[in-house]
Amino acid sequence: MNNFEPKRYLITAALPYANGPVHIGHLAGCYLPADIYTRYLKAQGKEVLFICGSDEHGVPITIKAKKEGISPQQVVDKYDGIMKNAFKDFGIDFTYYGRTSSKTHHDTAQEFFRNLYDKGVFKEEITNQYYDVEANQFLADRYITGTCPRCGNTNAYGDQCEKCGTTLSPTDLINPKSTLSGATPVLKETKNWFLPMDSIQQSAQFQEYIKRFDGWKSNIKGQCNSWLTEGLQPRAMTRDLDWGVPVPVEDAEGKVLYVWFDAPIGYISATKEYLASPSCIDHGPWTNWWQNEDTALIHFIGKDNIVFHAIIFPMMLMTHGKYILPTNVPANEFLNLEGDKISTSRNWAVWLHEYLVDFPNRQDELRYVLTSIAPETKDSEFTWKDYQTRVNSELVSIFGNFVNRVLVLSDKFYEGKIPSKPNMITVQNIFTCRQTCFDSITQSLHAMREDLDAVKLRDAQAEFINIARAGNKYLADTEPWKLIKTDEEIVKQIMFDAIQICAKLAIAAAPFLPHTAIKLKVMLGDENLNWSSLFNENILLENHQLGKHEILYKQVDDEEIQKQLDRLEAIKLANSQQPEANSLTDLKPDINYEDFEKIDLRVGKILEAEKVPKADKLLKLTVDLGFEKRTILSGIAEYYKPEELVGKLVTVVANLAPRKIRGIESQGMLLMAGNDFGKLFNVGPEKDIETGSVVK
Ligand code: 2FM
Ligand code: ZN
Repeated sequence: MNNFEPKRYLITAALPYANGPVHIGHLAGCYLPADIYTRYLKAQGKEVLFICGSDEHGVPITIKAKKEGISPQQVVDKYDGIMKNAFKDFGIDFTYYGRTSSKTHHDTAQEFFRNLYDKGVFKEEITNQYYDVEANQFLADRYITGTCPRCGNTNAYGDQCEKCGTTLSPTDLINPKSTLSGATPVLKETKNWFLPMDSIQQSAQFQEYIKRFDGWKSNIKGQCNSWLTEGLQPRAMTRDLDWGVPVPVEDAEGKVLYVWFDAPIGYISATKEYLASPSCIDHGPWTNWWQNEDTALIHFIGKDNIVFHAIIFPMMLMTHGKYILPTNVPANEFLNLEGDKISTSRNWAVWLHEYLVDFPNRQDELRYVLTSIAPETKDSEFTWKDYQTRVNSELVSIFGNFVNRVLVLSDKFYEGKIPSKPNMITVQNIFTCRQTCFDSITQSLHAMREDLDAVKLRDAQAEFINIARAGNKYLADTEPWKLIKTDEEIVKQIMFDAIQICAKLAIAAAPFLPHTAIKLKVMLGDENLNWSSLFNENILLENHQLGKHEILYKQVDDEEIQKQLDRLEAIKLANSQQPEANSLTDLKPDINYEDFEKIDLRVGKILEAEKVPKADKLLKLTVDLGFEKRTILSGIAEYYKPEELVGKLVTVVANLAPRKIRGIESQGMLLMAGNDFGKLFNVGPEKDIETGSVVK
């Protein structure tokens, strides 16, 4: 792809499953980098489409529907809107956000399948698949659980054991069970259509295509090469399922397209929909975007999507024949949260819509931090302390502070008008400071541009902050507030320069911090500042009237952070009291008697119980331990109503160190018995016994 000068850019961001709200992991891994890159291209005046949409098919949707007791259609209708709004709130500026349940998409995906089918690309194969006789349906891999042949985990899924990480086939499971009915599934013959990835791998066209990997990020290259070395296997492109795009051939009743066949085609159908919509300013026909070698096709994704975008989708496109192949697939690794994997089911996440409740209008702060720690080359970690440090010591102290100083001084010295520039500075010291500052800024701007071109957005943003850093140093070294009394001309030069630096910051901020960029441009009195003047020495000219200024960022204080940490602590507590998968068979490592003796268990009586506001799983209990009363928070709200608990005798871990959760100090813990089927029972004494009695 060297020396490729695209005429247009088609940027896609992975279509998220419409089965839950958006969290910081989604944003950092895929949508934010895609947005920054797109904004950068657009800023340069390139023709760009930025395409995304909801992935509304596949087993993840049907599982969610079962869990919530609603239909798959209701699930996707609910989350499509929630996700779209969250993206909008954070400035993820898709040109178009589609849905794979749309008619255009069903038609496009079916046509695509039919095209490959008519060409004889697919291999038709009859295989044995698990079938649930009671539920009367074939079972997707995720609907079968059983014992992992490798580690003995009794809750392994048909496609993977989450305990030991082994990839499995449903038939590998010992003692398989259908999660739909609990019945033991039977093997039944079924016909499906397979993409012969093994033979496509050998084709000259594919071999030519994979040369592109050389220019791609090493994490993608590594993953792809390992798939290729292992040798690709044919993969079924149809599934026996009742939710998805129906397979458009005879003899395929009850079958739908494999979700990974239809989802990437969602990029094509969304492009078609957008270009046909009234809101579209002329961008030509969709074929110009998908079937013209002048287009750069770039897929932003997370690492779990690599094989689908770098291998399977390109195989589909090349066997179709008319389509271009991806120019680049800048995949990111995963973002963890406070030492643990982000997990939707365990609620271990920072949800975008919740963030905005606690930090209204502070989207750019989160964008900034997530870009600073983006998992570009390896997994990375979000912590609230780090969020606070980065916002306070970088956005507030460096960028915000510089802009504020310049605008306050401009008001004070010149009533907000840009001073005229003197001809030449003769004071050597000031001259050197100025030179150093502008050399450093020019270097940062070049580096930022190179990093943006290479999709190294962490580094690019760091260079952006370096511009403000250089500006601060210039002011600190020259101290115009002191010189104003003695050297008016010199101060004019310094302030003129400082305002130009603010203008550069306003322009360069646009891809990373779009809300700030708009605000700052208004404050500088010119909303039209644009990328083409970024490298100019004089951007805003003398006598230009600056606008009204305000603080760009406010400090994040300790209480705000503590509140977030308390929330996570409460989630951890609630999770720790959920019946744990695998707990029935897996014993913890042995402890000795001395370890056991350290635990002080007492009989207590619940005197009061109430819900904790904004914490669905928590109850606040007042427990009488005989010698004293304790406040205990317990994650049992899903299992007990508060009124059921009053008067109950319970077993309390009485010497558990107090923990503050949601601002309340919890002074102990109740013992509960949980099984694998989501039940939880109080473990109290069999008969009435004095409160405070020792349990041993
Ligand atoms: O992993 C996921 O969330 C998938 N829904 C991504 C699909 S990307 C594309 F193929 F549409
Ligand atoms: Zn296992």
